[in-house]
Amino acid sequence: MTRPKSHTVNGCFITLEGSEGSGKTTCLHFIQQWLTEHQYDHILTREPGGTPLAEQLRSLLLQPEHNEPVDTLTELLMMFAARNQHCKHIIQPALQQNKIVVSDRFTDTTWAYQGAGRHMNTQWIQQLETMVQGTLRPNLTLLLDMPAELGLKRAKKRGNLDRFERETLDFFNRVREAYLVRAKQYQHIYRILDATKPLADIQTQIQTYLIDYFT
Ligand code: TMP
Repeated sequence: MTRPKSHTVNGCFITLEGSEGSGKTTCLHFIQQWLTEHQYDHILTREPGGTPLAEQLRSLLLQPEHNEPVDTLTELLMMFAARNQHCKHIIQPALQQNKIVVSDRFTDTTWAYQGAGRHMNTQWIQQLETMVQGTLRPNLTLLLDMPAELGLKRAKKRGNLDRFERETLDFFNRVREAYLVRAKQYQHIYRILDATKPLADIQTQIQTYLIDYFT
């Protein structure tokens, strides 16, 4: 398989975003397959997670039951603690080796879930973002968008809901709205995918965005 057009890729950071039940996992596999077929040196990773310690934090964050309420600031700090490990040990080294990094979620999720969903102080998010990432930001963000009701229905069908999937419809309406606001604000980075469409259409759209980006 040849690349869409010959050119050199100097490390690029692609993120996949979306609410619950938007089909991120399936799309991620498609992206991985596309990058492999076109011989792009890449890694696939996720947030929260990506390193052993960050994966442990993920388990704690997603676990539905705790013996005490999880304070929203604790949650925010744990997300960024996991992200710090992830950036320092996985993302930054891979980018320095000119690899393509594809992450299932990144800080846009924090803006949507903690910022809009939990009403956290956005200045704190901004400060933590700078503290942990410096100037590191995604080069391309693919957003799977769909009405919150539909996403939640799909997530509930899978069963075994995690701590976030148990949130209210209002919470997920705020999450969706925040993503769309960011997509407008960062049009040069965001590409929106209609997650209500059939999978084949979504994959065609992803492919168009990837070819457009890499050529
Ligand atoms: P998922 O990767 O299976 O979607 O699960 C991760 C969950 O963690 C998802 O519900 C969103 C949530 N999350 C946040 O609330 N803030 C964050 O910064 C990240 C990365 C994830």
